Amino acid sequence: MNRLLNKVALISGAAKGIGEHTARLFANEGASVIIGDKNVDRCKKTVTELTEQGYSCSALTLDVTKETDWINAISYITSNYKKLDILVNNAGIYSTIPIEETPLDDFNNVISVNLTGLFLGTKHSIPALRKAGGGSIVNMSSTAGLVGNIGSGAYGASKGGVRSFTKYTAVQHAMENIRANSIHPGPIDTDMLADKLANLESRAASESKVPMGRVGTIDEVAMAILFLASDESSYITGAELAIDGGLTAR
Ligand SMILES: NC(=O)c1ccc[n+]([C@@H]2O[C@H](COP(=O)([O-])OP(=O)(O)OC[C@H]3O[C@@H](n4cnc5c(N)ncnc54)[C@H](O)[C@@H]3O)[C@@H](O)[C@H]2O)c1
Repeated sequence: MNRLLNKVALISGAAKGIGEHTARLFANEGASVIIGDKNVDRCKKTVTELTEQGYSCSALTLDVTKETDWINAISYITSNYKKLDILVNNAGIYSTIPIEETPLDDFNNVISVNLTGLFLGTKHSIPALRKAGGGSIVNMSSTAGLVGNIGSGAYGASKGGVRSFTKYTAVQHAMENIRANSIHPGPIDTDMLADKLANLESRAASESKVPMGRVGTIDEVAMAILFLASDESSYITGAELAIDGGLTAR
C-alpha cells in the first residue's frame, strides 16, 4: 500500500506503543519516517529493523519539552530528507493523581510533556510544512480532553489544551494548506495502562464504560492517524476524532 508515498513524517514519542506502531504503519505506506523519542535507543532498534526491510527511516533524540531538540530535529530532517509533510505529536505521559493530592511539580510536568511539547513541535514544524506546500499535523489528545473523569486533572487539562490548540493551529494555517486535527483515544492496550489492565477488576471496570465493551488496540489508533496524515483527509482540519468504542457517545 502507498497511502503516504513520497511523504516525510516525524512522529514524537515513537519508541514504543501507539507511536512506534504508527511509525511502522507509515513506513509500510511509503513514507520516510523519522522516529523521535527521549528514549532513542529503542527508536534505533525499530530503525534497524525497518531499514533491513528496505524502508527509509531515522531515529532521533527528541525530548519534546526541550526546544533545542525540536530545532535540531527539524534541521536534521530538512537537511537529510529535504522536506517535512507530516508531524504526529504523539509523545505523552499519564497521571492518575486526584486534583487535591497533585503536587505542583507533577501538574507542571504533565502539562510540559503533553501540551507544551506539542506546542513546541508545532511551532518549529510549521516553517518546514509551509515550505513543502502544506502538510498535516495530527495531535494526540484523549477522551480525557473531551469529558471529565475521576482522577488526574492534570492529564485532562493537558489533553483539553491539545484539543483547543489544534483548532487554533487549523484556523491560523488553513490558507497555507497546513491541516491540524486531534485524535481522542479511549483506553488503549499499551504500557501506559499496563498496570490498570493487568488487574482483572480494574480492566473490567474500564471495559464496562465502553459501549463496545473492550479496550482498543494500537492498530485501531494508528489507522486513524494514517487517515488524518494522508491526503485522503484533505478537506478535514480542526476536527476531533474519538477512537473510543463509543465511550464519549453516551
Ligand atoms: N494508551 C491509552 O489508553 C491512551 C489513550 C488516550 C491517549 N493516549 C495518548 O497516546 C500517546 C501515546 O501513548 P501510549 O499509550 O503509546 O503510551 P506509551 O507509554 O507506550 O508511549 C509513550 C511514549 O512517549 C514517550 N515520551 C514520554 N515523555 C516524552 C518526552 N518528554 N519526550 C519524548 N517522548 C516522550 C515515551 O518514551 C514513550 O515512547 C500519549 O500522548 C497518550 O497520552 C493513550
